[in-house]
Amino acid sequence: MPDNTRRARDEAFWQIFADRYTVEPGPVNLENGYFGRLSRTVVEEYQRNIELINRSNSVYVRQRFEQGDSLDIRAQLAELVGVPAETVALTRNATEGLQSLIRNYNGLKPGDQVLISDLEYDTVKGAMRWLARNRGVEVIEIEHTHPASFDSLLNTYREAFERYPRLKLLALTHVTHRTGLVMPVKAIAAAAREHGIDVILDGAHALGQIEFNLDDLGIEFAGYNLHKWIGAPLTLGFIYIAPERLADIDPDMGEMHFPLDDIRARTPYSTPNIPALLTLPLVFEEHHAMGGSAAKGARLNYLRNLWVRAVRELPGIEVMTPDDPRLYCCITSMRFTRHADQQTMVDRLLNDYNLFTVVRSGAACGPCIRITPGLTTTAAHMTLLTKALNELR
Ligand SMILES: Cc1ncc(COP(=O)(O)O)c(C=O)c1O
Repeated sequence: MPDNTRRARDEAFWQIFADRYTVEPGPVNLENGYFGRLSRTVVEEYQRNIELINRSNSVYVRQRFEQGDSLDIRAQLAELVGVPAETVALTRNATEGLQSLIRNYNGLKPGDQVLISDLEYDTVKGAMRWLARNRGVEVIEIEHTHPASFDSLLNTYREAFERYPRLKLLALTHVTHRTGLVMPVKAIAAAAREHGIDVILDGAHALGQIEFNLDDLGIEFAGYNLHKWIGAPLTLGFIYIAPERLADIDPDMGEMHFPLDDIRARTPYSTPNIPALLTLPLVFEEHHAMGGSAAKGARLNYLRNLWVRAVRELPGIEVMTPDDPRLYCCITSMRFTRHADQQTMVDRLLNDYNLFTVVRSGAACGPCIRITPGLTTTAAHMTLLTKALNELR
C-alpha cells in the first residue's frame, strides 16, 4: 500500500495536524469546502505581518515589498504549482482571476461559440454569458449525464465539439463545487485542442488536495484561490497563463504599470492584502510538512470513503459523486431520495446530530447535500455522519 494511503488511516498522525487548528465549539463542520482554516502558527504569523505593515507602512512596501519580497513570494507560489514564476500573477481570489481571463481573452469574434456546463461555478457562468452580450458570441450550455463516468463526461464534450463547429472557448472546472466531481481535465483539454478550442480552467477546489501538473494537463489558462485547501488567509488567488499564450489575453482595462509581455498586466492593479501575502511562505512550508497535496488528498479521500462506502447502497440515499478514483476528491454530495426538500434534511443533520452541511443546487442532477471533511475531521466524525444518514433516510 503506498505510504500516503497507509498514513491516511493513521488517526494519531493526523490528530497532530488537527491539533494545530483552533476550532470553535459547536457543530462538527462538514462544510470545509468554503474556505480552509489557518493553523495557529499561520494566524500568529499573519498577525505579526499585519503589525509589521501597520508599523512600516509604505516605507517597507515601496522599498522592499513591491520589487523584492513580492517577487520571492510569487516564485514560491509558482514552485508550488510547478510552473515558471513569469507565468503566474497574483489576484485577490479565483473569481477575479477567472473573470480577467474570460473578459480579456481576445480570440473571439462575433458569431463564435463558447461552452459551459451545468457544473461550472456561477460567477464563471456569468462571465461567459457576459461574453455573449459584449462580444457577440453564442453561449452553448450543456448538461452532464448522471451518474457521471469518465467516458460520459468526455463524450459529452466530444459531442458538443462535433455539434458546435464554431466553438472557440470552453470554461472547465477541475473540481465542481456542486458535487465534488473531478473532471477528466487532461482528456477533455486534449479533445478541445483537436478542435482548436481553448480551455480556461477553474482550479479553485483542486489546489492543495489534488496533485496536478498544468503542462501535463495541457492547460494554458487557469485561475485559482489560495484559501481552500492550501491554508492561506482569505483574499489571495492567482492566474496562470502559458508563456506562449500571453498575447491571447489582453491587458487589464486599467493597466498602466507593467510591460505588455508581463503577466501582471493581465490582472487589476490595486493595493493587495500585503500581510496575507507575506504569510504565504509559512503556509507553503506547512503544506509541504503535511506531505503536500498527495498526503492531504489521500487523508481527505479516506475520510470521504468512510461515509460513502457505508451508505452508498442504502435505500433512501443516493450518493451523487462516482467512486472512480479519477473522478472524486473529498467533496461528495448525496441526497435523501425519499425526501423532496434537502434543506429540511440539512437542518435535521444540524439540529438532531450537530453536523453542519450545506445544500447545493444548480446541477442538472438536482439539489444535493454537499459533505466536505477537512483537516480537523476525524474517523469518529464520519461514524457519526454515517449513523445520522442511516437513521434519517
Ligand atoms: C469551483 C469554484 N470556482 C470558483 C470559486 C470562486 O472562488 P473565489 O471565492 O476565490 O472567488 C469557487 C468558490 O467556492 C468555486 O468553488
